[in-house]
Amino acid sequence: MSTPAVRFLDLSVTDAAERGELLAAVAGVLEHGRIVLGPEVEELEKRLAARVGRKFAVGVSSGTDALYLALRAAEIGAGDEVITTSMSWIATANAIALVGAEPVFADVREDLNMDPASVARLISPRTQAILPVHNQGKACAMDELTAIGRQHGLLLIEDCAQAFDAEFAGRKVGSFGDLACLSMNPMKVLAAIGEAGMVFTDDPAWRERLQALRYNGTINREDCHWPSHNGRLDTIQAAMLLRRLDRLDGSLRRRREIAAIYDQGLAELAGRLEIPRESSQDKCRDVYYTYTMRTDQRDALQAFLERRGIESRVRHPILMPEHTAYRGQARGEWTKAAQLVRQILCLPIHEKLTDEQARYVGQCVREFFAAVRGK
Ligand SMILES: Cc1ncc(COP(=O)(O)O)c(C=O)c1O
Repeated sequence: MSTPAVRFLDLSVTDAAERGELLAAVAGVLEHGRIVLGPEVEELEKRLAARVGRKFAVGVSSGTDALYLALRAAEIGAGDEVITTSMSWIATANAIALVGAEPVFADVREDLNMDPASVARLISPRTQAILPVHNQGKACAMDELTAIGRQHGLLLIEDCAQAFDAEFAGRKVGSFGDLACLSMNPMKVLAAIGEAGMVFTDDPAWRERLQALRYNGTINREDCHWPSHNGRLDTIQAAMLLRRLDRLDGSLRRRREIAAIYDQGLAELAGRLEIPRESSQDKCRDVYYTYTMRTDQRDALQAFLERRGIESRVRHPILMPEHTAYRGQARGEWTKAAQLVRQILCLPIHEKLTDEQARYVGQCVREFFAAVRGK
């Protein structure tokens, strides 16, 4: 049997029906000609707000932009601190730094999400907001984080970039915070064919300010009230995202099916390999943005899989406070995160993966541990 090459990610659109839908969506925009914030942006905002359970959504140019603009709308800036996780893509810290505030980095729990106890320890008189990241498709402990925020009078701004449609206690992520931010870049579970983002809120004043801030801080596109940039969601991306949204339930189902194949294939390795567990909290639902395992033999396992034609990734290998831009100056605690980041390995979990490929990946992981035990 020839070894199948298992790619970590494959962004090409090979399904003929989907390709046709996307091209038709673009053709629709070309035809009506309202190519800046046209009807598709409005429809996407309405549909995503309804799906997340918010009153308003404001389409912006990327997830990074969503975070930056949410912080700007909340008037967070110089002299303020925002507590976020230490384990995320660097965009989260950068958005805080870009508004002139200081990111403070909390430690994580075994599930790789922000530890509420660490957040509570890091609160200072300068803290304005808590910014949890729903890491790797898993919701944070929103009951505890909401309680801490309320107790200390802090804003809660969710970063849902990696976890659109995930649930905590039966509620969608993005529905807990005063503001919530989404990335729809091509890697995400709801993915544009380019860059796109969204901010959610229930507050009409914040919605208005976000709409101004995404276009040079102008009211009525004329008078600038707050210096800002042009960060509007592209109409063609919105048109294609609407079609992708139609297919989202199918894509999420497929991710769960692959996760179930991995769970089954790797169950016998318990004790030597930690597989991602859906939180035991009632009614939590992961969207498997990644399938992130943990093992002390991570590097050897990754090399072994590569020799078997399987691509895997470490998402993200550098903790946010350890990036060159922040190292040595960052405040926070990340002892647990530093230990876990050396163990994490993400297996491929995109929708094009076949059952056979997923089983093959599981088999290769088992072979690796059998070989290690045999030594
Ligand atoms: C947790 C998190 N926050 C923010 C972002 C930034 O999103 P974007 O790439 O759309 O700017 C990402 C993107 O990977 C992310 O994973």
